[in-house]
Amino acid sequence: MPALDLSPGYGLPALAASYLDRARVRELFKVRLDRSTKQRRLRFAGAFCLASQRGVNLGREFQVQFTGPYVAGESKFIIAVAMAGPTREFWEKRFAAGDTPWDRGEVSPQLGAWLAAGALKPCRILVPGCGSGYEVAALAAAGFEVTALDYAAEAIGRTRKQLKDAGVEATLVEADALAWRPQRAFDAVYEQTCLCALYPDHWRDYADQLRRWLAPGGRLYALFLQWLRPGAAEGAIEGPPYHCDINAMRALFPEPRWAWPKPPYPRTTHPRGLAELAVVLEHRA
Ligand SMILES: C[S@@+](CC[C@H](N)C(=O)[O-])C[C@H]1O[C@@H](n2cnc3c(N)ncnc32)[C@H](O)[C@@H]1O
Repeated sequence: MPALDLSPGYGLPALAASYLDRARVRELFKVRLDRSTKQRRLRFAGAFCLASQRGVNLGREFQVQFTGPYVAGESKFIIAVAMAGPTREFWEKRFAAGDTPWDRGEVSPQLGAWLAAGALKPCRILVPGCGSGYEVAALAAAGFEVTALDYAAEAIGRTRKQLKDAGVEATLVEADALAWRPQRAFDAVYEQTCLCALYPDHWRDYADQLRRWLAPGGRLYALFLQWLRPGAAEGAIEGPPYHCDINAMRALFPEPRWAWPKPPYPRTTHPRGLAELAVVLEHRA
């Protein structure tokens, strides 16, 4: 495998050098750390650490990077590594370790507000990235025909338990949200932090899926996670969860293909101290 010649110019924030397993990096990538300045080493350590925390298969990504002409600089490398984003294994490991800070342990108050206001009425609804499934059980109990989707087996197992405990039923699908195709379209999709769990390179595909899943006139009940991280000032894309900037959301779900209500939108708080913007979009034919 060719050596990677690190070149400067990418602004990923440096993480502590103690994260770096230099021997493993050398073994995997044959990186010429000896030629780098300390700062570059730290940046590389940061990229390596962020990527491995996200469950990215670094070795595989790196080999892909080197199948073409030798054009890889530091930024190219970091982007190539980060493009895969969190994997199914990443989420499985988070569930297995009980490391689920996104999990409220109860139904989102915004779902309760939409139901109480009659803004969301019983219909055929999909909950992608359902996690522990509190909302799935609540919707089923409120008379909805619910399909819940997640590619982590543990999430599906937890959702099954929620349904059993509540004595209600829903269709459970263990599949990748970026690939799954239903047999029939839905009247509504309840999107609670599945989008922000996907690396932004996949957002366009996910938005296309949401459009495919919904029947014309169907509604997307979206909770757009708000977490603008300081690294964004230097161009770093950090997550999950990835910040769902409102401008990016308008680009993903543009008028007139989607009808937007007028802002301001309600902000739902999250146990981590974060917030979600609650927006109901209508799929226009
Ligand atoms: C941040 S958690 C949110 C879970 C739940 N919606 C909640 O708010 O508690 C993201 C969930 O999406 C699932 N997920 C991420 N990417 C996915 C994909 N490509 N296909 C299906 N599920 C995915 C993860 O397994 C995880 O359960």
